[in-house]
Amino acid sequence: MNDPFKRFRWRRVDAATRAKFRETTLAAQDFIWPLFLVDGHGVCENIAAMPGVCRYSADVAAEVVREYVGRGLRAVLLFGVPREKGIAQAWDPQGIVARAIPLIAAAAPQIEIITDVCLCSYTHDGACHVGDNDTTCEYLARIAVSHARAGAHWVAPSDMMDGRVWFIRRALQAAGLAQTRIMSYAAKYASAYYGPFREAAACTPQAGDRRDHQLDPPNAREALEEIAADIEEGAAAVIVKPALTYLDVIWRARAAVQVPVIAYNVSGEYTMLRQAVAAGMASPRIIAETLISMKRAGADRIISYFTPDILDGTIAWD
Ligand code: PBG
Repeated sequence: MNDPFKRFRWRRVDAATRAKFRETTLAAQDFIWPLFLVDGHGVCENIAAMPGVCRYSADVAAEVVREYVGRGLRAVLLFGVPREKGIAQAWDPQGIVARAIPLIAAAAPQIEIITDVCLCSYTHDGACHVGDNDTTCEYLARIAVSHARAGAHWVAPSDMMDGRVWFIRRALQAAGLAQTRIMSYAAKYASAYYGPFREAAACTPQAGDRRDHQLDPPNAREALEEIAADIEEGAAAVIVKPALTYLDVIWRARAAVQVPVIAYNVSGEYTMLRQAVAAGMASPRIIAETLISMKRAGADRIISYFTPDILDGTIAWD
């Protein structure tokens, strides 16, 4: 006679059996590595708030990318961190990101180059905008065009101004750069998880916060409206950010749209887990468990500072 209940435990009895029932995986090609770029040569400086993460000058970044392409790296996301502030540098053809793109492309021709498009590391007050929404969008479009001209495959606006995807799309088209795609930070929340990044990118707001333009954390339906609008305006992929506290948004986005949905495993999530492991308060497995939750929620790819660990095999789900 059959048991009057179902038996599941045999599925989990050993590693080989568990592997047969695995629904989700973490693979090198899922990961996008964010890189902070600074002026100079031979620079590799540690970021105190993000243990294990460095700011690189373009030459070092190119070498590091070349090395990791050999281990399966597919894509990088570039952030410029200029020594002196001033927004015009953000779209200067000699600007920090524009100069780095051809160096990285030469060192690693297969790599997919995505650039973050925002004003916050260039403004004196650390703001992502200059006050007026549409004027800011005009500036963002200039930045996007300068990155696209330098060879970026994707531009990723992270400012949360209204209509910026439309402004960028129009400017790319006018500049003959229609093939450059837009990966928009469509659902970017006003999160306390960005703290370490602000040190890394020297973009801590000098006054106020970003709650007047980034999404309000209690809202999810509104995120879907933002995502739909960005796709309508011309985004070919959308980012949900942060990832961990917004897995429900990733899940809903995956069900609602057909374009790639990308999770941003942000700086605060990174530092929180690194510190917990370093302090012996959590098993290192906590990192792979967290990353795989983003895939399980429906993310096609993950932007993560853990990317080198994944490529080195020091973080894996096994
Ligand atoms: C700036 C920007 C931020 C991040 C990416 N682009 C910070 C912010 O909006 O304050 C956060 C990334 C991270 O925390 O890893 N527009």
